[in-house]
Amino acid sequence: MPPAIIAVCNFKGGAGKSTVAVNLACALHRATGEGCVLVDADRQATAATWAKAGRLPVKTVARILHEAKPEERYPGMLWVTHIKSLATSNPIVVIDLPPGLQYSMAAVTTVSDLIVIPVNPSGIDFHSTAGFIALIQKSRELRRSVRPACVIVPNRLDRRTTIAQKLSMYEQFGEPIAPAIGMRTAFAYAFDHGQWVGDYAPGSTAHREIETLARLVLDGTTNTSGAS
Ligand SMILES: Nc1ncnc2c1ncn2[C@@H]1O[C@H](COP(=O)(O)OP(=O)(O)OP(=O)(O)O)[C@@H](O)[C@H]1O
Ligand SMILES: [Mg+2]
Repeated sequence: MPPAIIAVCNFKGGAGKSTVAVNLACALHRATGEGCVLVDADRQATAATWAKAGRLPVKTVARILHEAKPEERYPGMLWVTHIKSLATSNPIVVIDLPPGLQYSMAAVTTVSDLIVIPVNPSGIDFHSTAGFIALIQKSRELRRSVRPACVIVPNRLDRRTTIAQKLSMYEQFGEPIAPAIGMRTAFAYAFDHGQWVGDYAPGSTAHREIETLARLVLDGTTNTSGAS
């Protein structure tokens, strides 16, 4: 069974969450015969803006996840209900999360089957990702489950630098690492055109990289480690 609820998330801003979420949702939609919905949970509305021209193949809805108050016992509970409800009528739900959530993060780890974590392989991203992965592992203990599964997706990789050296630090988490997504202008242009890379630049490297990630997600083989 492919994961039904996929959150694209990291504490860190600008790691490529929206870019990965929109393109992954579209790739999954095409690969599964139109069974995916994209949820914009970020009030910055990047995914919703991407979808505005009506040129994405996926249905896109806004379900904003706000930061909870520290004293809230079940943070983001209403939001969790909305997401579960979407999952009853759509086989796959892909969620683009905002950066910087703290207390509401419990809602994300509670509802997700799989958390896709885009990272820019650098020391700065590494530290915030370490905290996020600790939270995911804690959530598995609380849920007494192997879920949420997670996969680290090295994104915006500049291949002039030593990939192996940059990625090796992520291996210590013991979590799956997907083949890397490179620094590709096609992603930025695809946003400008309101399209996903599969329609904007079919057959491009960017398209192939997203398809590889989608296949990994569908096969449940998110433990394919290393950069391509
Ligand atoms: N693989 C890539 N190649 C080239 N540019 C990229 C890539 N991934 C993301 N970008 C660019 O990096 C910037 C940030 O990407 P994006 O908005 O997807 O990040 P984010 O994590 O969603 O940010 P935020 O935390 O603000 O929500 C954008 O300008 C986007 O076009
Ligand atoms: Mg974003």
